Amino acid sequence: MSAPRLAVALVVVLALAGCSSEAPFSTPSTAQPSTTSGALPTTTPSAGTVTSTPGETSIAGGMPIVGSSSIGDPYFPALGSGGFDVDHYLLDLYIDVDEGWISGTTTITADATSTLLAFSLDLIGLEVSSITVDGLPADFTRSDTDILIEPGLPIPTGERFVVAVTYEGSPEPVLVPWFGLVSGWQNRSGATFVVAEPDAARGWFPGNDHPSDKATFTLRYTVDDPYLAIGNGVLTSTLPGDGVTTYVWEMDDPMTTYLATVVTGNYVRIDREGPGGVPLRDFIPADFEGGADEVPAAFDRVGEMIEVFSDTFGPYPFDVYGHAIVDGYPGALETQTTVIIGSSIVDSPFLGEIVVAHELAHMWFGDSVSPATWQDIWLNEGFATFGEWVWIEHADGPEAMLATVEGTHASMSRTPHPAPGDPGVPELFGDSVYLRGGLTLHALRAEVGDDLFFEALRAYYGRFAGGTAATADFIAVAEEVSNRDLTAFFDAWLYSTELPDLPTIPE
Ligand code: TRP
Ligand code: ZN
Repeated sequence: MSAPRLAVALVVVLALAGCSSEAPFSTPSTAQPSTTSGALPTTTPSAGTVTSTPGETSIAGGMPIVGSSSIGDPYFPALGSGGFDVDHYLLDLYIDVDEGWISGTTTITADATSTLLAFSLDLIGLEVSSITVDGLPADFTRSDTDILIEPGLPIPTGERFVVAVTYEGSPEPVLVPWFGLVSGWQNRSGATFVVAEPDAARGWFPGNDHPSDKATFTLRYTVDDPYLAIGNGVLTSTLPGDGVTTYVWEMDDPMTTYLATVVTGNYVRIDREGPGGVPLRDFIPADFEGGADEVPAAFDRVGEMIEVFSDTFGPYPFDVYGHAIVDGYPGALETQTTVIIGSSIVDSPFLGEIVVAHELAHMWFGDSVSPATWQDIWLNEGFATFGEWVWIEHADGPEAMLATVEGTHASMSRTPHPAPGDPGVPELFGDSVYLRGGLTLHALRAEVGDDLFFEALRAYYGRFAGGTAATADFIAVAEEVSNRDLTAFFDAWLYSTELPDLPTIPE
């Protein structure tokens, strides 16, 4: 029995939850399920046939409209905007590490999907000094969660346009009361970092803050010497200035807003060679207790993990991989290519390696294939938990994996939980999503057999890599590959509160 590994994801969640007592701020949560978006107009200005697909207001015949201030997420109606699709973000920010203050410009390149008289971006807090659209000053008004931008002339459907928002201020962290952790922008002893899932990206840059609108990113961060500014993707240039240095990071693969990050402080970079030409680069605080001249033991087997997951799920999705360790944060987030992980997790012989495997599995599920709505969160967390079991099976053998799975099922059967396919906002990162989500994949494996199951997993990843997927998309692939009607199976596992029995994997 591998008792120490039982219900590891549960422990991670508890570890994350443990930080609520130290929340040193008063920002009210912005993550209420019932919150409607700001008081921005979403109506059409003239007659016509209004076709209202969720989140998008449009009019037959391409009449100009005011883009909706919601993208129509069932759990977070304030998030996202309609009427355009973001292609690229350029964040050009000076970050005062000691003060936790930022100033600069976020430039968004987007395509209009309706003819737009006006459109919204998500942004909370911070002071906006000016906005231009295609280089011309635009009028704007703000609500609690959105900026309504009115360009001088309507933007025609299909046209690419560029919005530049210049702003400054101190981004506020957000307490997620139903999760008990602090998310968003954080300042801690000479370091700043951002962990924005699910809805805190709008606390540090304006954008279409919803996973269904992915985009590439250029992150251009300027910090005072001797600090380092770490972002997602590849560091393409380091530009020395007068007492400051600008670090330019390129994320050329589509990324959701909540996975964009910055980590600043006194960091040491350690490069290693990864498998299949994927460079590994990790960022260790210069005063890290375990020393900053080599990576901690929890990272030792990352190359092997990438190989195992590439064999199991499909090729590693991105150009690089690694972690940025933050002192005194009891959580971890799968920030694309640069996982943010708290030092206490890294140091834990019990949690370290398994959390590292969990966050790596997210590169395939969550980061490359992103949830179409927040209700689809089990496609992130259930799959990453299953990834932990794939790693345990490889590292410790099938019996250790089965013992972990059985222990997880036993622990889930002791108390009631919501169904993972519709957990509701308070349980968005709860045990059902993580553990029963993982059990759902394990049960599917038992149901259709290893060959078809892993073929379906790879087909699902291959089809939706770089984009988004909904639960129905996964079910469709599983049915297609297995050539079976799996309605009853998924109804039982994903949509009924009663936990099904654990099927056994045939020999
Ligand atoms: N996705 C994270 C994980 O499972 C958990 C998480 C959700 C999180 N929201 C967060 C972590 C906000 C830090 C901050 O690995
Ligand atoms: Zn996770």
